[in-house]
Amino acid sequence: MAQTRITDHKKEEIRDAADIVDVVSDYVKLKKAGGAFTGLCPFHNERTPSFYVTPRLGIFKCFGCGEGGDVFNFVMKMEGVGFVEAMRSLAGRYNIELPEEESSESADAQTQLVEGIYHALRFAGVYYHQTLAAEDSAAAARDYIGRRGLTAATTRKWGVGYAPDAFDAFYKHALSSGINETYLHEAGLIKYSEQNQQVYDTFRGRLMFPIFSPSGKVIGFGGRIMEGGKGPKYINSPQTKVYNKSEVIYGIHMARNEIRKHDQSILVEGYMDVISLWQHGVTNVVATSGTSITPEQMRRLANYSPNLLMVYDADNAGQNAMLRGLDVALQAGLHVRLMHLPDGEDPDSFVQQFGAESFINYTRKEAKDFISFMVQHAEDKGEWDDPMSRKQVVSRILASIARVSDQVLRETLIGHLRKMTGIGERALYAELGSLAAAVRQEEARAIDRERRAQQREMQGGAPHPAEGQFQNPGSGGASAPAGAGVPRTRPVQVRRPAAEKEIIRLMIEHGDGMIYYVGNLIGPDYFTDPELRQFYEAITACYEQEIPATIEHFTAMEPPFPRLVSEVFIEQFAVSEVGNAKRSRSILRDTDPYATARGAVKSLALQYLSQQIEQVNQQLSYAGEDERSELYRSITELRKTRLQIEKSHADALYPAPDEMP
Ligand code: UTP
Ligand code: MN
Repeated sequence: MAQTRITDHKKEEIRDAADIVDVVSDYVKLKKAGGAFTGLCPFHNERTPSFYVTPRLGIFKCFGCGEGGDVFNFVMKMEGVGFVEAMRSLAGRYNIELPEEESSESADAQTQLVEGIYHALRFAGVYYHQTLAAEDSAAAARDYIGRRGLTAATTRKWGVGYAPDAFDAFYKHALSSGINETYLHEAGLIKYSEQNQQVYDTFRGRLMFPIFSPSGKVIGFGGRIMEGGKGPKYINSPQTKVYNKSEVIYGIHMARNEIRKHDQSILVEGYMDVISLWQHGVTNVVATSGTSITPEQMRRLANYSPNLLMVYDADNAGQNAMLRGLDVALQAGLHVRLMHLPDGEDPDSFVQQFGAESFINYTRKEAKDFISFMVQHAEDKGEWDDPMSRKQVVSRILASIARVSDQVLRETLIGHLRKMTGIGERALYAELGSLAAAVRQEEARAIDRERRAQQREMQGGAPHPAEGQFQNPGSGGASAPAGAGVPRTRPVQVRRPAAEKEIIRLMIEHGDGMIYYVGNLIGPDYFTDPELRQFYEAITACYEQEIPATIEHFTAMEPPFPRLVSEVFIEQFAVSEVGNAKRSRSILRDTDPYATARGAVKSLALQYLSQQIEQVNQQLSYAGEDERSELYRSITELRKTRLQIEKSHADALYPAPDEMP
């Protein structure tokens, strides 16, 4: 009984200290909505927010999947642990002391396994750290750390350690301390040799960097080779039930509040870069550690701030990795700036030599938006003067802009690129259009895959029934803190009829002749989309007033025109249309724009007729006896016309321009 009272008391103390908004924010980007906060549910896959946190009541609730509860439930669900472990996790986070005790015995097998893995990892972290601090075998490692400039305090804070250069020293020590072998293996700390089933340590003779979850739990390790050692420079933990490489951000447990405070994260390549910058007081710094940048990592980073500064090693490998990462970051909606350090430096070496102030000053001077960065990069490599290679650089930049889904931002970027290159907006938008189509198509395929996976999941088709909860990305199981592996996508925008956008594009792209031509075939009523109708009217108004109807003209107008321009020129070949890429390319070439126009007019006419039929049908429902036969007749008439148009080729339906009156 006494035991329970302590727990209850502690539970309340922790609940009081824990800010549920803060805790949830590690996984969900929350927006204030009255007295509550909303965001995309981390427990199921959704595109519009139905997840609510009410800080006054200390609870969360998802109206989509029904998940809900208090801060403890959230941590349990998110980290895949039981109640006691969730308490421990929160207690650690808010510096509340909790007596060591065994975890609850009532937990199910999966929960126990996950807790066992966490326990083994924590045990290993302490072991490596103490080995580094005190063992004779670690003398060289201590020397090395000293030469790299890490202080004892930093080493402690980041849990840096050393794995002795022995076959199974850690394994033996862990067993003798009562750690279950299954947990050691599931945690990726030991391995079995293939031939003779021998057990050996995963990390041997390496400097150890624990990798932490956002809440500060050890979830894996990166092990750096020592001078003269064998094998790859770094070995990282294998994928486990608590460590998913593609979503982990190294240093996030230290940096998350700093990132919020500075409203920017600094992304570097290596463990040492993070720790070293941190030691010098640059604290909003993280790394992706051992993988190329993934969409899920970038989405997580975006939870803390939309602004990202990338500072990679100043060698070719670093710069190329940075440019690859750039596209992923842009597509995740981050506002990216890039920085090039002096040749031969990485963030670690720079800050060790010149200090934090120089580093900050350097970012103020040298960090560039990605367009300026890429142009500079090309200038440095002598690619900017040669027209052919300059063209390639511009295409490369456009490919990055195509990743940006925010239209206002995309337009701003195009404007910027136009200024830097002197290339006209029309040409830039034309190329951007096909690039963006490819990106959106890729996104659509991803959404599709995701949807199918979700359906399979709902039909209970988990690949490994025994471990289903943990292997199944969408279930929010333990390997899946924050709905691991479920790419979240922005809400799909209102889709405007493709043919209507096509007409607008043709009129702007081909000017007066086309405007006159189209104007003779259709009128504003043919447009079902009100904004596109408005656009059509504005174009014909230009024609009548003899003002050139150009992209520039409309981008300078009031909303919604600037937005419409980019929509028409970028998303005209959006994902759902048939024949996508091939079709868009052939249309973009516009070998015969008037033929293209006829095709589009035909589909507008069909759409227009269907609408008419629908209207008459509605009139029928409240028409008097005497009107009915008249209405029936016109429906028949309309249907006949529609059928005729459907069956005929557009070229047969409409005259060519030179046959026009
Ligand atoms: P670096 O080779 O730049 O290492 O790799 P580093 O962190 O700067 O290390 P020091 O300063 O030379 O000691 C950058 C990052 O790439 C990953 C690691 O996360 C490393 O921190 N990496 C590198 C691997 O995962 N495996 C490797 O073999 C090499
Ligand atoms: Mn490096």
